[in-house]
Amino acid sequence: MTHRTPAPHGSPAHSQPHGHGPHGTGHSAGGAHGNGTHSHGTASHEQDGLAELLDLDAELFAPYLASAMRSIVEAAGDVERIVDLGAGSGTGTFALLKQFPSAQVTAVDSSAHMLEQLTRSAAAKNLASRVRPLEADAGTSLPGVTDVDLVWASASMHHMDDPTATLGIIFKALRPGGVLAIAELDGMPRFLADDAVPERPGLEGRCRDALTTLHAEGVPHLGADWGALLASTGFTLEDERTENLELRPAPGGSAGLYAHGTLSRIRGALDGRIEPADLEALDTLLGAGPADVRHRDDLVVRSTRQLWIARRPTDSGS
Ligand SMILES: C[S@@+](CC[C@H](N)C(=O)[O-])C[C@H]1O[C@@H](n2cnc3c(N)ncnc32)[C@H](O)[C@@H]1O
Repeated sequence: MTHRTPAPHGSPAHSQPHGHGPHGTGHSAGGAHGNGTHSHGTASHEQDGLAELLDLDAELFAPYLASAMRSIVEAAGDVERIVDLGAGSGTGTFALLKQFPSAQVTAVDSSAHMLEQLTRSAAAKNLASRVRPLEADAGTSLPGVTDVDLVWASASMHHMDDPTATLGIIFKALRPGGVLAIAELDGMPRFLADDAVPERPGLEGRCRDALTTLHAEGVPHLGADWGALLASTGFTLEDERTENLELRPAPGGSAGLYAHGTLSRIRGALDGRIEPADLEALDTLLGAGPADVRHRDDLVVRSTRQLWIARRPTDSGS
């Protein structure tokens, strides 16, 4: 297992959220996927932090990603042309390339910085010839993308301003019979038991509640009913499932780094939104002292993940 050190407390990754991109507020409000940050205009150091969390998430939840991939293979068969929409650091792109050995992936992201990282990773894995990075706002258009067999959109659809318009763009980009898989989650993963900080019982729950308010403002489509939206756009829904995942990893590894990185990312957004005593307790968890969350042996990573698999009907024109 590789060792990475997320940006420490007090670093830019922990700074007050910033950046009001074209998608609205720049709330930094969550972990790898469940964040409320619209990436447009987000500083590159913050995106480095996000890319690192996305990689940690994929590492910890590898069995879940693998099972989602198996379901996609079942639905899509053998495919050649794939789009990873909101590709981020490329965890989905690389899983798809492994799953579909003769396919090419167009990795779409609105962040040039993310795409640079993804391109570097592709080169390091000797996969550059099978990946085409495309910088685009998928909420507006997918320029030059047509006749696609499979679109994978993981933790990206909730970032779109107008999900119905984006689904329409994806529908047109797919060939008739092509498959769209949407993966989403319920927000920031949980790590701590209610009594993990005895002097502030329920600390993490209160952080989550504050984030829920932020999400309602910054990413109102987090938690949307994608099944209904898919049907109303003309897709045929073939599979829909929700899984409550719970990991009890060995102490001292990726889970501690993931918890530290996630909580660091939300810390700035919580100023003034939770009680000062809660902020102080959170800072203690993020500090380098004996209570550092990275060294706890009682972390349980909990996250609810949802998957929708839908098809553009074969008789829907060309
Ligand atoms: C939470 S990350 C998920 C990354 C990756 N799919 C994964 O599951 O690891 C969301 C990604 O969507 C991208 N994104 C957000 N809004 C977008 C838009 N309108 N068009 C294209 N990409 C977008 C962000 O830059 C970010 O890389």
